[in-house]
Amino acid sequence: NNPPWPAYRGYHEYSFAYATMGHRLPTILGKAIEDTIRTLNDQSAEDKVVDLVKCVERMDDLMSDLSGNQKLRPIIDDGEGDIPLWNKEIAKYFQGKDFMNAPWLFAEAYKYRRLHECFSISQYWKDYDVFFRQKCDTFSRSSDAVFELSTRFVEPFTHANHLSDGDKLEKERLMFLELTQVCLWGNSTDLSLLINMTEDQIKSLQSTGGEHLAATEKNILGNHMSRLWETIKDIKETRGRSGAGGRIDFVLDNAGFELYCDCVYADFLIQSGIASQVRFHGKRFAWFVSDVTRKDWEWLLNSMVYGQLFPKATDAELESLRRLGRRWKQYEKEGKWVYEQHAFWCTGYTYWDLHTEAPDLFLHLSQSDLVIFKGDLNHRKLTYDCAAPASTPFDVAIGPMATFPGAPRVASLRTIKSDVVVGFESDAIAEQLDQDEAGWKISGKYAVVLLSDGRPG
Ligand code: F6P
Ligand code: MG
Repeated sequence: NNPPWPAYRGYHEYSFAYATMGHRLPTILGKAIEDTIRTLNDQSAEDKVVDLVKCVERMDDLMSDLSGNQKLRPIIDDGEGDIPLWNKEIAKYFQGKDFMNAPWLFAEAYKYRRLHECFSISQYWKDYDVFFRQKCDTFSRSSDAVFELSTRFVEPFTHANHLSDGDKLEKERLMFLELTQVCLWGNSTDLSLLINMTEDQIKSLQSTGGEHLAATEKNILGNHMSRLWETIKDIKETRGRSGAGGRIDFVLDNAGFELYCDCVYADFLIQSGIASQVRFHGKRFAWFVSDVTRKDWEWLLNSMVYGQLFPKATDAELESLRRLGRRWKQYEKEGKWVYEQHAFWCTGYTYWDLHTEAPDLFLHLSQSDLVIFKGDLNHRKLTYDCAAPASTPFDVAIGPMATFPGAPRVASLRTIKSDVVVGFESDAIAEQLDQDEAGWKISGKYAVVLLSDGRPG
């Protein structure tokens, strides 16, 4: 059940694994400790203070395990549903392994689970999210792009009566392709890489608009966008005929601006009649810094409707954001949008193991017309995070997620922020970039939009 290529590991000095395990993760943990201390300093009740001090002590212990490259121990049983999955995987594959010689993907995920454990075994702070402040703050500093999208998409997508069917379809196609790129590039503002971004840096990463999108399409190095449109058209036709309407799933990545872009995209999928239901899959606890939790989901929708995040915005801008937010909340009430969070998403398993380790989730996804995986980490998990040649076809790279009976159609929308790259037309494209542009695999400047047709049951 494994691909033939080696998985990246922390000791691979040539890879981003090395910098991440040795340097980035301790920095991220250090910031998490600072955040918790800030919360601690705001507390007054003694029992809560004492409880939180213990959380900080556990984070300090984690810091020395990480920096001292200790062996991976089982996760303490805090009664949460993912414990059997974690401890089975550790016992089966990673006994005696340490942070640097375990596969990078597993060791990195393990660090976030250990961070969660610092709080999950406490009395008062079980759900504390050390990254919450940061996630909210970055969204509130994204005003230009937020209002550019809200003012443009606040009016529901409709067709003028005089348009022919062909013209309507063409309009839908163009809108779909544009929004696919909005959704894709929304992934470049990921906080784990961009700690302490300036407002200008955020702006340049988030610039949307037609011209910009045309220019950025050339940076999509594995590009199945036209196949994706054909698929979408097919879903609309076949599901429309049966009267049921399509179901599209998003396996979410980051909170704040990326989630907002995902929602703009999902809104279009509903309004254009492509989908009658969109299901969003988030994380159960703070994960890879900026990933969406239920709290982030609720925060976004409520801030749009009731928040005071943008003091410099015009009344028209604020009204567009409120209207969008109200529409999205209404979708949720009507069951057109559903937010869910399966325990499997916060484990160290790659998606090569999804059908065996979370068969209920696999079955659930197999009922979807299209599952869109957002972002870099989801891409690493789909592809086993291994050193596959860049020309490896996407459906080969994702193994059972393409071939196991019932495998759904899968799309990966990912800006490239780590070593694994697949789905390119040739290895030469990657080789050339290796020569010409140091760091091209971690800058988020390049992307892939890849599709697998799956194996519908
Ligand atoms: O720490 C590395 C990493 O896992 C990379 O995959 C990526 O740079 C980042 O963290 C997460 O990116 P994303 O939010 O797009 O999954
Ligand atoms: Mg993320």
